[in-house]
This record gives sequence, C-alpha cells and structure tokens, in this order.
Amino acid sequence: MSVDISNFNPFDPTTQQCPFPHYAKMREEAPVHAVASIGVHMVTKHDLVMQVLRDPQTFSSMFGGAGMPLSGPERERFAEVMSKGYPRVPTMLTADQPEHTRYRRLVSRAFHPKVIAEMEPVVREITVGLIESWIDKGRIEFVKEFAVPLPVRVIAKALNVPDDRLADFKRWSDDSIAGIGTNISIDDRIKAEYGVNEFQHYFAEQLELRRTNPQDDLLTNLLNATIDDDDPEVTDNRQLDMPEMLSIVQQLLVAGNETTTKTLTEMIRLLAENPDEWAKLKADPSRAERVMEETLRLSTPTQGMWRVVTKDTTLGGVDLKKGQRIIIVFASANRDEDLYDEPDAFDPDREHLRDNLAFGKGIHFCLGANLSRLEGKVAAEELSKRLDTISLTSNNKFEYFPSFMLRGLTDLEIEFTPAKVSK
Ligand code: HEM
Repeated sequence: MSVDISNFNPFDPTTQQCPFPHYAKMREEAPVHAVASIGVHMVTKHDLVMQVLRDPQTFSSMFGGAGMPLSGPERERFAEVMSKGYPRVPTMLTADQPEHTRYRRLVSRAFHPKVIAEMEPVVREITVGLIESWIDKGRIEFVKEFAVPLPVRVIAKALNVPDDRLADFKRWSDDSIAGIGTNISIDDRIKAEYGVNEFQHYFAEQLELRRTNPQDDLLTNLLNATIDDDDPEVTDNRQLDMPEMLSIVQQLLVAGNETTTKTLTEMIRLLAENPDEWAKLKADPSRAERVMEETLRLSTPTQGMWRVVTKDTTLGGVDLKKGQRIIIVFASANRDEDLYDEPDAFDPDREHLRDNLAFGKGIHFCLGANLSRLEGKVAAEELSKRLDTISLTSNNKFEYFPSFMLRGLTDLEIEFTPAKVSK
C-alpha cells in the first residue's frame, strides 16, 4: 500500500482504521515527523521513543490533559463545566518529577507484582463466570459480553467499591477518554465532562465514607497518606486533598478499562485469525503470557502519548523548540523493523517480545501493567480451555473507534463451540 505522509492527517477516518502503513513510512522517511494538520511532531522509531522516555526533564508530561487542546470560546465553555466538579490537578500521568514520584509512591504498593499475583483467583473467578454466562450461546458479541465487563469488574474489586455501579464505571471511563485523539464536537466533549463530574462526586462520597468507616483498602490508604514521609524536601508533610485523591482514582479507573478491553478484543481476533496459534495455545496453556504480550505489541491500544519539550533540543536530527508538543507513537515503535522481523505478523515466539512499549517505559511506565498482563493471561488460559473452535462471523465490519491515540474495535462477533472441560 502506497501512502503519502506529507499530508498525514491522524483524524482521517481511513487512516484511523489502519494507521500502520503511515507509521512505517514515517519510520523510513522521517522518524520525527512534523504533522502540520495538528501542529505536532510524531516520533515513530523505537530508539527515539526510548530516548524521549528516558529523558523526562527535556520531555515533560505536563501536557494538561490527554485530550486535544481547546482554545477561545470552546475552552471557556469547557472550563465552565469543569468548574462544577473538583479542580483537575496533575498527579501521575500528567505530572513531572518530583511531584510525580511522590504521588506514584502512594499507590505503587497496591500494584506491586506480589499484590497483583494475589488477585489471580479473583480475576479467574470473574473470567470463568463471564464465560459460563454465554458458553451455551455459540455466538456472542465479544466486546460487550467479555472484554468490557472483565476489566471493569476487576478494577471495582481492586478499588473495593460496590458492584452496583459497574455500568456507571464503564460510562465514566468512556467519558474520561472521550476527547483523547478524537475530534468529537465540543458539545459531545462537554457532555462527557458532566460524566467526569459525576465520577468525581461518587468517589468523593466513597472516600468520605471511609473517613468515618476506615477499611483495609486503597481508598482508605489514600485518605491516610501523607506527602511525603521520606522526602527531606517536603516540610509540610500534609495529607492529600480531595482533588489529588480524585485525580489518582480517576487514572486507576480509566487508564485500565478501555485499554484492557481493547487488548482482550484484539487477542481473540488475532487467535481466531491465526488458527495455528489457537491450537498451540490450547495444547499448551503456558503460552498464554506470550500470546498476551504479542497482542499488546501488535495492537498497542495506547497508540501514543503527548510530551512537551522543555528546552530547545534535537531529536533524531530534528530541531525541537521549547514549548513544542510531540507525540511518542508506541504503536509504531512496536513495529520497528530494526527490532522485530516481520513486524506486522502475529508471532508469540518472537524475540524481544518484552521490549515492546505498549505500557511505555521509564518513570511513567504503566502502573497497571501487571494487572492487565494478569487479566490477559487468565483470559487466554480460560478461553482456550473452555472454547474448542473459534471463528469471526461474516457480520463483522472490523471498525475501530475514531481515535488516533486509543485504538480498538467497536465490536467483534465470534462463533465458537464449547470444549468439554472438567470444572
Ligand atoms: C492493556 C492495558 C493498558 C495499556 C496498554 C496501558 C498503557 C499505558 C501507557 C502506554 C502508559 C504510559 C504513558 C506515558 O508514558 O505517558 C500508562 C500509564 C499509566 N497507566 Fe496504563 N495501560 C493499561 C492498563 C492500565 C491499568 C489496568 C491501570 C490501573 C489499574 C493503568 C494505570 C496507569 C497509570 C496510573 C499510568 C500513569 C503512570 C505514571 O504516570 O506514572 N493502566 N499506561
């Protein structure tokens, strides 16, 4: 497929359905490519993306929000709605050191590999429960019946909040990412912002409940946490305020839902399209981790992320000015032919699998990576154990959400035959 990157438009619906030929061309011709249509440079080679990730002093994460920046009256209308909620403060994803380290330290314990490993039985119970709810149907819409509810239920367990608001959790997650990499109308963005306000008020209430009735959970830990016991630079050792706590909780709730949903959906698509790999997985479930990792590399649901240049610098031979915005394109780095042979092929046995950047790297490395990997591994194990054959029905249109930053299928219908398993 021949593509022209000189007028690359990430909002173009055709490009959004399959941006990979454009990324390949950028890697070949201009790995730090000025994209006139959105006024940013896109960084597409693995080594250059790594260079940015390793240098958070030059490439700041203080980009405000991950949505497209607004200006003029639109910005004012948006700010007016935001003012009805709690102030949005930068904590992890959108903070730089040293603040970033202080906030991240408060929650990193809850996502430590050991703590996440202890969640495996819960993740398995939720996974098996979902599969059993549709195993006799023979045909399902996989996104709705599996890929959405699994991460929503898991994060609700991790946050120890009641199950009765699961549908709202999903809606609030969607609202929180509505403006990321999309050009939805300002009215839709404002509507979504009302959802974010609703999220804030719900979790403010959950946090207040724990003030009078403490529990052994992450929200109570946030209430009791101080900034920062061990840091000599911090003299006022205060507790977190509500906007800070809500910012942290929002990232935990939102960052994991859509991304994990999109990965699980791509995993079943790739397995259905590669029957040899499905057969190998069924014969040897220990391949589940590799299957998940290769899915992450190929699908890279967080296709890219913003950085702001803090001082005049050069990257890949291209001059960048202080204040300029760039996008580091993880999805392109993950198909860099300098690292991966036949990068577009699904090959769970390939080398350098764990060098993929689906979760980023460096100080902002995804806090939920262990949790998502666990969900993907358990899903691959249980689906391959409980389903015999899988195929994609002819009803599928394979449409991806219209975002150039968060990429995933809107729906996916699969047909299957159940396997005979001892429960
Ligand atoms: C397949 C699923 C996921 C993918 C692909 C993904 C991807 C990413 C990426 C690429 C980053 C780094 C962004 C940057 O460098 O600016 C990131 C950061 C982050 N992720 Fe994830 N994520 C996933 C699941 C989760 C889950 C389940 C959670 C929480 C429970 C989570 C919480 C976070 C947080 C809090 C950050 C910010 C960390 C920081 O700035 O220190 N993510 N994620």
